[in-house]
Amino acid sequence: QHATVTLDPAFTVAPVRRRTFGSFVEHLGRCVYTGIYEPGHPTADTDGLRQDVLALVRELGVSMVRYPGGNFVSGYRWEDGVGPSRVRRPDLAWHTIETNEFGTDEFLRWCGRAGVEPMMAVNLGTRGVAEAVDLLEYTNHPGGTHFSDLRASHGNPKPYDVKLWCLGNELDGPWQVGFKTAREYGRLAAQTARAMRMLDPGLTFVAVGSSGSGMPEFGAWEAEVLAETYEEVDLISAHAYYEEVDGDLGSFLASNLDMEHVIRAVTATADHVGARLKSRKKIGVSFDEWNVWYLSRFQNAPPPAAWEIAPRQLEDVYHVADAVVVGSLLISLLRHSDRVEAAAQAQLVNVIGPIFTEPGGRAWRQTIFHPFAQASALARGTVLHTAVGSPVYATPKYGDAPLVDAVATLSDSGEVALFVVNRSIDDPVRLTIGTRAFDRALTIGDATVLADDDVYATNTADAPDRVAPRPHPGVTPGSLDVVLPPVSWSVIQLS
Ligand code: AHR
Repeated sequence: QHATVTLDPAFTVAPVRRRTFGSFVEHLGRCVYTGIYEPGHPTADTDGLRQDVLALVRELGVSMVRYPGGNFVSGYRWEDGVGPSRVRRPDLAWHTIETNEFGTDEFLRWCGRAGVEPMMAVNLGTRGVAEAVDLLEYTNHPGGTHFSDLRASHGNPKPYDVKLWCLGNELDGPWQVGFKTAREYGRLAAQTARAMRMLDPGLTFVAVGSSGSGMPEFGAWEAEVLAETYEEVDLISAHAYYEEVDGDLGSFLASNLDMEHVIRAVTATADHVGARLKSRKKIGVSFDEWNVWYLSRFQNAPPPAAWEIAPRQLEDVYHVADAVVVGSLLISLLRHSDRVEAAAQAQLVNVIGPIFTEPGGRAWRQTIFHPFAQASALARGTVLHTAVGSPVYATPKYGDAPLVDAVATLSDSGEVALFVVNRSIDDPVRLTIGTRAFDRALTIGDATVLADDDVYATNTADAPDRVAPRPHPGVTPGSLDVVLPPVSWSVIQLS
């Protein structure tokens, strides 16, 4: 099999956006407790923040972190998690006990240590405009008012200046505490954004889009929500999770075809609403939940019997094929950098996360850590239109899918980074990279591949580096040809 990738430095999509490499920390399972935060852990600092996890977060190259949910936010009272006395409450979303030991100040301090931008979500499930404005006053107001002085009295006189705000979470879903019709939600979101901007005009707002492309109202929900919020918000959210179902590895490997469909459908819907409103403004996409998630295993498991504190929930262990799918999803997000202005892999630690920890023990990289870390480190400058010529294969779910998919970026200093997946289950594919349009000869420099004879191989506490990128064996020195092994993620640098 043979595929081609053709690059031209004049054919550009958009600048690489740092916000593409966002992640997500929800009060769910062990993402916070024994994930990023574990007082008493041998690596914890005086604030209880695990330094081993922080080191991996920095290595992962996360730029932005969404918080505190997720389903959790739709029942959250942020006041429970600030100050000296914390309130214990049942979390209806995940049927657990929330101690609120970790809250807004701890999260924003953690963001500072991790070097990431916070993306805060407000509760528009059980709460509304007033509580959202109160939270903004707490995080962003300089001082001299009730909530800004309260923040100062908690030892944080300097405002956190949070810029990016999600107006609720998945309010189209019946599983959401306080779920709403599109019209109800749209009006509430518009009023909330308007009021929050009265306090701080420099904010960016994300309206809630559909929870997934399979939702009955996908498309209609976005249209109605944007009809209410168009001039108040900047972005509309998209969420998508993928898993291998009934042994159909071929369809699973082609999951980014669905992500492509979501991005195209949501932007087309937004543009349609803009046209109807005679607005020149363009709404971007915040793909603020995406990942591989073995959701059906979670849905088929018995619900938690007891109300526990930070139990093991959604702790998927990822394999090689999962990492290749995550790589292909990153390819799609980068390819659509003209409209996808922010994205967050869900989630960061333990809960469907690239980082895994043991309470009191070590932290390690899951297989899906690697494509994210490599793309975040090497995608620089501008995204190029990447013309892929590839044989196709038949998938039960998506019809014909290209065996090879790829995207390239061109840094300001002229280096090309090419990110490629080969989805063939059995066969290597020879890839030829066309670079004739460049005014100089490009040659392949560093190249790595993530692949394994066992596509279901995982990383564990005892073998944390079983699956990792290795020097690419398929590069022919002096040529622009690379042999991509089956089920693989390759990163090829050219200069
Ligand atoms: O990321 C796990 C859950 O998936 C989130 O809480 C929710 O928003 C989505 O349904």
